[in-house]
Amino acid sequence: MKIIIKDNKENASKEAFKLFANSIANGAKVIGLATGSTPLDLYKEWVNSDVDTRDLVSINLDEYVGLTADNDQSYHYFMQKNLFDKKPFKKSYIPDGIKAINDPEGSSAEYNQIIAENPIDLQLLGLGQNGHIAFNEPGTAFDSVTHEVKLTDNTIKANSRFFADVADVPKSAICMGIANIMSAKEIVIMAFGKNKAEAVKKMIEGPVTEVVPASVLQNHSNVTLIIDEDAASMLSSK
Ligand code: GLP
Repeated sequence: MKIIIKDNKENASKEAFKLFANSIANGAKVIGLATGSTPLDLYKEWVNSDVDTRDLVSINLDEYVGLTADNDQSYHYFMQKNLFDKKPFKKSYIPDGIKAINDPEGSSAEYNQIIAENPIDLQLLGLGQNGHIAFNEPGTAFDSVTHEVKLTDNTIKANSRFFADVADVPKSAICMGIANIMSAKEIVIMAFGKNKAEAVKKMIEGPVTEVVPASVLQNHSNVTLIIDEDAASMLSSK
């Protein structure tokens, strides 16, 4: 794993965007995208750049079950507002969180088919405080594919900052599995802030274990971890 440490998240995001621009210039066509606060600066860089997306396909990691695309807490809405409004892709896929209310298996199977037909060249990831990637919580099997996830209390609490009330946070999501993520040719994972320091340490210095989903990335041959100094603060060697 290649590790890049920058003084702050703005500079780290600039670095991450350079990797994206470079991969796209070198032919990457299918881009796996992520939500959360972590990728926001990277998306700003992208919006302000001349990197064209009209010939690219995007595939997002996850979506809450039960939120419509126009709900401002849905990941559909997030992507539209932060990237797609300014940088429309040829085709953008996000799991169908409405179909998933009654048919989570159907919604998941459809998404696996989309990923099979559009192999991911470059996947962007954030990191949960408990080491989750996308919504793959501790204990998720490494051979998992797209599935419905019951969110842990830890994740519901962490994500409640985006909602008016913790009770409004959906209790489940449709999410790419670990095997889908690992099938990407290249992965860029970012983490910022002291509250991610422990997860970063476990991800790269700890054993590869389903208890820390992100630790699986130690088994991938083309991963770049981009972090700020706060997120790097617990690493034993920098
Ligand atoms: C959520 C998302 C993840 C994201 C994580 C970290 O649970 N499903 O994809 O990486 O939170 O969020 P943040 O970037 O806001 O810290």
